[in-house]
Amino acid sequence: MSTTAATSANTEASAGSKPTKPLPVPEGSVMITVKVARFNPDNDLGAHWDSFQVPCLPTDRFLNVLIYIKSYLDGTLTFRRSCAHGVCGSDAMRINGVNRLACKVLMRDMLPKDNKPLTMTVEPIRGLPVEKDLVVDMEPFFDAYRAVKPFLITTGNEPTRERIQSAQDRHRFDDTTKCILCACCTTSCPVFWNDGSYFGPAAIVNAHRFIFDSRDEGAAERLNILNDAEGVWRCRTTFNCTDACPRGIEVTQAIQEVKRALLFTR
Ligand code: SF4
Ligand code: SF4
Ligand code: FES
Repeated sequence: MSTTAATSANTEASAGSKPTKPLPVPEGSVMITVKVARFNPDNDLGAHWDSFQVPCLPTDRFLNVLIYIKSYLDGTLTFRRSCAHGVCGSDAMRINGVNRLACKVLMRDMLPKDNKPLTMTVEPIRGLPVEKDLVVDMEPFFDAYRAVKPFLITTGNEPTRERIQSAQDRHRFDDTTKCILCACCTTSCPVFWNDGSYFGPAAIVNAHRFIFDSRDEGAAERLNILNDAEGVWRCRTTFNCTDACPRGIEVTQAIQEVKRALLFTR
């Protein structure tokens, strides 16, 4: 968010520390209300909502809005982000009730065309323990990812040159190579919400990426892992995961392909 333009006496609506000097308000910005789900294990407030008034430009991403809050309204607001360009997968959160990467939500798509007031909500992704504000403990998610052995498994001697693969064979698993491990899919899955022991769609996507790789020899091992009671058969094919994926991966289709591979190897 550019803050080089005009400043004004916006001193409103900080739920944390009160601003003591005029806040930067970029020229052409409109004020929006952002309701943020808060939780701090080190205070007695418990889980609650805080509201902030934030100046917003159509050129902002929602991540800019959060950075504004943290920079000027409440420095205690806690969230993850790194690349700010939809690459690292660290800023998955529930924005207006749906899982999104904050850096990929364009405010021009959110701002009402008729200048009506805008209120947005942001919460942590669901199904993982909240550590603070919008930050969740990702370890259960990565445990499931590690459990499917997301790396090339081969036998025999190391080759002396690269492992050759046809373009057609490479295409077979192209879609699932795009995963950035953001957890938007797994934490939008009702089965995962109800039972965190389900591997979840992201782990299955990353198993798919190697199961269908012609150079890999660990498919049977991974399929055996996913044939488990907490594996692919728990999926109810509700497509929440596909809708949530910021990389446009056909997550449910990948799960169906793994199910089919299991059926044909029985
Ligand atoms: S399709 Fe399967 S994995 Fe995806 S959200 Fe639905 S139940 Fe979960
Ligand atoms: S499949 Fe999509 S939503 Fe799921 S972790 Fe990978 S990139 Fe994120
Ligand atoms: S900050 Fe890296 S994906 Fe959003």
